[in-house]
Amino acid sequence: MGKNSAMRSQSKRYQISKVKQDKRKLFVYWDDGHRSTFHYIWLRDNCYCSICGDPKHGEKRFQITDVPIDIEPLSVCWDRGNTLEILWKPDNHKSVYNAQWLRQHCYSQTEREHRQHRPIFWDSKIVSNLPEIAYQEVLNRNSGRLKLLENLRDYGICFVRNVPPQKGELKAFAQSFGPLLETNYGRIFEIIVDPEESHKSVANSEIDLIPHTDDAYQYAPPGIIFFHCLMANNDGSGQSIFVDGFQIAEMLRQEDSEAFALLCRYEVSFRKYYHDRIDMQFSSPVFCLDSGGNVKEVRISNLFPAPLDLPEEIIEPFYMAYRKLMQFYTNPRYYLKQSLQPGDLVMFDNHRILHGRTGIGRQNQRRHLRYCSVERDFFHSWWRLLVDSNI
Ligand SMILES: [Fe+2]
Repeated sequence: MGKNSAMRSQSKRYQISKVKQDKRKLFVYWDDGHRSTFHYIWLRDNCYCSICGDPKHGEKRFQITDVPIDIEPLSVCWDRGNTLEILWKPDNHKSVYNAQWLRQHCYSQTEREHRQHRPIFWDSKIVSNLPEIAYQEVLNRNSGRLKLLENLRDYGICFVRNVPPQKGELKAFAQSFGPLLETNYGRIFEIIVDPEESHKSVANSEIDLIPHTDDAYQYAPPGIIFFHCLMANNDGSGQSIFVDGFQIAEMLRQEDSEAFALLCRYEVSFRKYYHDRIDMQFSSPVFCLDSGGNVKEVRISNLFPAPLDLPEEIIEPFYMAYRKLMQFYTNPRYYLKQSLQPGDLVMFDNHRILHGRTGIGRQNQRRHLRYCSVERDFFHSWWRLLVDSNI
């Protein structure tokens, strides 16, 4: 979920103990010994007075090009450590900053690292300590809902137990987070063995499915995916498999940093095509990194390949890297295997977690999962709102 805004709600109150200036920056010394550096241009840009913007919604009513890059204060003062006030040259514009807000947005290296969310990577051993929660707890308590969102944030996956195995349940639950996404398979998709439909989706076949992220051929693949189990096979077939793409990335990075770098730099091509109705194509690196080099997005799909379109000299090294990657994500050491039972619902981040399944026995094709998805933005938004409500 990117930067951790939980800081906003934490009870520690910071006070300004001293302020120093140079020609371009303000140095704020805090009561806990920390020093923040704020450039004048940054401070002026972040004035949220009623002239500069709408203080309630943070909307801006001026352009940064209206402010000289070398803007300087006429005066700086702070009130009992809780408020910082600046009068700017040359027009005497007044900006007032709340000390807590300043500290929460301090962009020193230590504070930026402190705000960075660190996901918890996992492998098959997670089975002994699953991120899970009871349905009633999520429905009835904000704390339960927050716990679910935290599991999604930290592990990329959460199992919800005791969801009545009835058709209407998934839609109502998923919509409580945000609108259902329209996909090639509709907004709600029935995952059952159905030879008639299997040309549209391999999910409707009986074959085993190698772990993958969904709809890699789209510009914006679905965010949070829901599987709700209505019926299960009773012969142990059709087990669900989940793999932590972040963990795979780190293992590969440690073992072969050049292979990892190739998969971060060059694009894999994906295509979804069927019968004159759909021809979607997209190319993307397997791993997208943030500016700190952390993996923020994973796109892996052997189900919808298109020919690699890479420089000649990259083809062979890329295949070496791609094969190594596949050896990781098909290694059961990284599998979370679960026989979903009626009443189980699993939610996972399709930009991090790969999913697959074992084949479905010919004699036993009762398995019925219902599928839908909601954009990740709504989950992050809910999480921030619930954290801010101090539940
Ligand atoms: Fe899938």
